[in-house]
Amino acid sequence: MRGAHILVGVTGGIAAYKVCYFVRELARRGADVRVMMTEAGQRFVTPLTFSALSRYPVAVDLWTADQSSDTDISTRHIHLANWADVLVIAPASANTVAKFTHGISDNLLTVVTLACSRPIILVPAMDADMYLNEATQRNLAVLRERGFHVMLPGSGELASGLKGPGRLPEVEELVAYVGGILKQAHRDLRGKRIVVTAGPTYEAIDPVRFIGNRSSGKMGFALANAAAQRGAVVTLVAGPTHLETPRKVKRINVESALQMFNAVQHHAKNAQAVVMAAAVADYAPARMAKQKIKKTGDDVPEIALTQTPDILGTLGKKKGKRLLVGFALETEREERNAREKLKRKNLDLIVLNSLATHRTIFGSDSNIVTIIDASGTKQELPELPKFDVANRILDRLALMWRKK
Ligand code: CTP
Repeated sequence: MRGAHILVGVTGGIAAYKVCYFVRELARRGADVRVMMTEAGQRFVTPLTFSALSRYPVAVDLWTADQSSDTDISTRHIHLANWADVLVIAPASANTVAKFTHGISDNLLTVVTLACSRPIILVPAMDADMYLNEATQRNLAVLRERGFHVMLPGSGELASGLKGPGRLPEVEELVAYVGGILKQAHRDLRGKRIVVTAGPTYEAIDPVRFIGNRSSGKMGFALANAAAQRGAVVTLVAGPTHLETPRKVKRINVESALQMFNAVQHHAKNAQAVVMAAAVADYAPARMAKQKIKKTGDDVPEIALTQTPDILGTLGKKKGKRLLVGFALETEREERNAREKLKRKNLDLIVLNSLATHRTIFGSDSNIVTIIDASGTKQELPELPKFDVANRILDRLALMWRKK
C-alpha cells in the first residue's frame, strides 16, 4: 500500500460513512489517497470529512476550481484518471453503476471513471431490492465483462431494515481486496504491443450453418483485459462470442479461421507478442454452399473438409523477436502432446488446459493450467479465476522481456 495512488470515488449511499474508515485506514497504511464525490455522496458525508481523513482537498465539481489539484480544471479529470494506480468506487450506487454501463459522464466522478485506464474496483452498496433488481445485476455483469472488478456486497441487515445482500464489506475486506488488485496491477507491460486471440471460429457450411466449437472466449478476453490493465496496447482478435469488449482494448471481430489468420498476420507485424487463446477450427468445409442445403429425399449430404491455415505455426516459422504463446487442450497424453506442440510451432510458452482434471472449462470463470516454456520447465497452477491465470501468463512474458 505504501506510496500507492488510490483514488476513491464516493457516490450517494448511507454506506458512505463506512468509506471514511476505509480512507483513514488506507492513509494509515501509507497510501496516497484522493477522494472525489458525487453530489448525492455529499448528502451523506461532507467533503470536509474526507479531506481531513485523506489530508487532501476533495474533488467534487466538474466546473469549478476546488483546489483538488493544481491543474487546469479543463484537464483535471484526465490528470486525476492518470494519477491513480487504482480507482475504487465505494459505495457504488445503482444509479452510478447504470451510468458506467452506458458511458454517461455527467459529473466529475463519472468523467474520471470514463477516462481512467487503470484497474477500477466497484463496491456496490445499496438496498437488497435495488441490488437484486435485474437492471442492476445486468449492469454489473456487463461491467465485469468490461474488466471492472466488482466486489460482492455483504449480506445482512440493511439501513432500510431489510435483510439481504447490499452491505458495504468491512474495512479490512476492502483493504485486502484493493491490495490484491494493486499487486496484479503493475505497469510492467506499458507500451508493449500484444495481439490476443479468443473464442471459437465458425466455418460456414452454407449461409445458415457452420462448424464451430464450445469455446466461450473468456480466457482470451481475460488475457486482453489483464494485459491492458498492465499498460499493454492490446489488439483482441475475437471469434464469435457475446462477451463485452474489455476496457481500453481494440477488438477486431472475425468469424472463420481464415479471417482470424489474416487479421493476426496483419496485426502481428508490429506486435511484440502474440497469445493464441482462440480455439481455431483445424478443418473447414472445402466449399461453402451458396444456398441453404435442402433436404433431398433420403440422401445424406457429405461435407468435404479442408485444413485451415495454422496461425501460430505460420508465425513460428518467421518468429523474429516476437514472443509466441499457444494453448493446448488435450484429452490424452496431455503433457507430451503439449510439449510436442510447443516445439512444432516454435513457441515460447504453451498453456495446457487440463480436461482430465477440470471437466467444465467451457464457459467457466476459472481454469486449471500448466505453463510449459521453451526450456521444458513446467509450472503447474492451482484452480484460479481466468483473470488470475491471465496475469500468471503475462508475468512470464514480462520476465522474458526483462531478461532480454
Ligand atoms: N492454432 C492456430 N491455428 C490453427 C489451429 C490452432 O494458431 N489453425 C493454435 C491455437 O490457438 C492454440 C494452438 O494452436 O494456441 C494449439 O491448438 P490445437 O488445435 O490444440 O493444436 P493443433 O496444432 O491443431 O494440434 P491437434 O489438433 O493435433 O491437437
